[in-house]
Amino acid sequence: MEEKILVSYRGRITRADRERLKGHKSFILWFTGLSGSGKSTLSHKVEEKLYEMGVHTYVLDGDNIRQGLNKDLGFSEEDRRENIRRIGEVAKLFVDAGVAVLTAFISPYRRDREFVRNLVDKGDFIEVYVKCPLEVCEQRDPKGLYKKARAGQIKNFTGIDDPYEEPENPEIIVETDKMTVEECVDKIVNFLTVNGYIK
Ligand code: PPS
Repeated sequence: MEEKILVSYRGRITRADRERLKGHKSFILWFTGLSGSGKSTLSHKVEEKLYEMGVHTYVLDGDNIRQGLNKDLGFSEEDRRENIRRIGEVAKLFVDAGVAVLTAFISPYRRDREFVRNLVDKGDFIEVYVKCPLEVCEQRDPKGLYKKARAGQIKNFTGIDDPYEEPENPEIIVETDKMTVEECVDKIVNFLTVNGYIK
C-alpha cells in the first residue's frame, strides 16, 4: 500500500469547547443485541428522553447507515466488521462534535465492539447489552426474518446460523423480556446521570 503522510490540522475550537456550549458531555451509547431484541426501540426512546432533558443527540441505525454509508456491505463476518468499524469512526466524529450518539447495531463480535471502545477515550464508550433470549426474539420476529432464516431463505442470520458473542462486561444490561420499555429507558438514563454524563 502507498505510504500516506498526513498532518492533521488542529482547529482552535476543541471538543471541550463544544461540550461547554451544549452544557453536557458527549459519549457513545452503544446498543448491542440480537435482531428483535429491542435495540432500535430503546435507542429512540432514550433519545426522546435525552432530548427532553436538553441533550443534543443523534441515533445511528440501519436506516441511515445500511441504506447509505454502508450500502455496499452485507452480512459476512468481514462485512459486519467493516460495518462496525465505519460506524465506530462516525460515532467518534460525533463525540468530537460534542453530541451524544446512540448506535443500534447487532454488532455480534466482541472484538469489533472492543475496537470501537478503543477508538475513543476511556469512558466515552458505554456498552448497553440489550439482552433477550433468542426464543423470545424469534417469537417477536417483527420483520419476519427469523422465519425466513429457519426456512433457509436467509443465510448467516445472527442467532440461527451465525454467532452472537454476548458482552462480558457491559456498562449496562437491560433485559427486554423481563423489563418494560420505560424501565429499560430509566435504567439507561439513570446510569448517565449517576455517572455524570448528563445533569
Ligand atoms: S451487524 O451484524 O451489526 O453488522 O448488523 P446490523 O448492521 O445491525 O444489521 C442488522 C439488521 O439487518 C437485517 N438483517 C440481518 N441481521 C442479521 N443477520 C443477517 N444475516 C441479516 N440480514 C438482514 C435485520 O433486519 C437486522 O435488523 P435488526 O434491527 O437488528 O432486527
